[in-house]
Amino acid sequence: MNKIPEFLKNDRYKRSSYYAYNWKMPQTYDSCIWMKVGKIDLLDEAVLYEMSGNDRSVRILDVGCATGRLLFKLAENRYTNLSGVDLAPQIIEVAQKKLSNFRVNLNLKVADSEDNLPWPDNSFDIITLTGVIHHFYRLHDALKEINRVLDKQGKLIIWDPWFPMIVRQILNSWLYFFPHDGDYRFYTPTIMNKKLSDIGLIDIQYCRVAVWCYIITGKKKDKIA
Ligand SMILES: C[S@@+](CC[C@H](N)C(=O)[O-])C[C@H]1O[C@@H](n2cnc3c(N)ncnc32)[C@H](O)[C@@H]1O
Repeated sequence: MNKIPEFLKNDRYKRSSYYAYNWKMPQTYDSCIWMKVGKIDLLDEAVLYEMSGNDRSVRILDVGCATGRLLFKLAENRYTNLSGVDLAPQIIEVAQKKLSNFRVNLNLKVADSEDNLPWPDNSFDIITLTGVIHHFYRLHDALKEINRVLDKQGKLIIWDPWFPMIVRQILNSWLYFFPHDGDYRFYTPTIMNKKLSDIGLIDIQYCRVAVWCYIITGKKKDKIA
């Protein structure tokens, strides 16, 4: 069995993500019960809807892409410029195999999005984070790094679980001490709205989807003021 990389040793939230997605789940993730119970298809439809109107050659990055679940759907929908990044090398291997039959410009990488996305500034027209932001211990750092690789006027699309206030507070307190499969903290759309405007995004819009999730989108300014 692989050892835990040195850089994870002092970060128990990331270690929890790495353990879950690198060792426990790469082969079983796509068929796990949450895919059906959580109506993930509906959420993917919402993401595709947010992209509609774009040319199929837009440069898309899926952060925390795991098995390439969303990238697969994008390839099926004839999007041709697809990139993905994940913390866990073994789940990226699964994604690579799964997408190998599509004729797309595919670029999958292993990296920690809180520290460094291995692409130059302004590399993407659309960046997606589906079910990922609640894993970030340093959310602001991750969002800043994501904003760096998003092109001017590019669009950020995020969905994440939504919980009623009391449930969310209990869950967040619990996860602070006992991170579960890398889950660290759940946010409200209002808090996420503030976090996206803090990094300079504009035209921020959000709504609830599939009862237990919300989707939030924002655009990068054309020019830095
Ligand atoms: C709940 S899964 C969501 C996967 C996928 N986006 C989907 O919609 O099914 C969260 C993913 O985020 C990845 N992840 C967590 N922290 C990360 C980080 N700091 N950088 C990159 N990926 C990360 C995990 O390894 C995992 O694959």
